[in-house]
Amino acid sequence: MAILKVARMGHPVLRKKCMPLDPATITGPEVQRLIRDMLETMVEYNGVGLAAPQVYNPVRLLIAGGDEDESGKAKLRVLINPELTVLDEERRLGMYEGCLSIPGLRGYVERPAHIRVKAYDERGKQQEFELEGFPAIVMQHECDHLDGILYPDRVEDRSKLGFEDEVQRFHDLGVDEDDQDD
Ligand code: NI
Repeated sequence: MAILKVARMGHPVLRKKCMPLDPATITGPEVQRLIRDMLETMVEYNGVGLAAPQVYNPVRLLIAGGDEDESGKAKLRVLINPELTVLDEERRLGMYEGCLSIPGLRGYVERPAHIRVKAYDERGKQQEFELEGFPAIVMQHECDHLDGILYPDRVEDRSKLGFEDEVQRFHDLGVDEDDQDD
């Protein structure tokens, strides 16, 4: 296992449209090592998600957290070649997002609150499920990375992009349901 270096905004690897992985390679040693290293890296830096391009590997693989299983334990999902469908265009969720590739900053982004996800998991099995609320936000943020999109691209009100400590002082970092502002 290894803690990987995380690419920071400005590095072109973060702006690439990532390549799909051949599902037949998912259970192979190379992809399995990448998954383990990404998990270790994410935990080390306290991330709630991590996409492969953030560790200089522009393939369509990501880890997304922010969810819990039935017993309340944190649940991490490994997704390969994910496809997202928005289930409700009207219901949106806004929050100050952060990113391991943009250390120290936060920006207010609104995204659809209810999505369906189709992807391969770390065992190469196809899975399909729905997400709502915070886990849906995390998933969309991570999927954006696979298309070279970073959250500041989605900040509509530029006055709501700032340094984490100042944002914490003057804004509510919590998740706002629907169109409620901070
Ligand atoms: Ni990110």
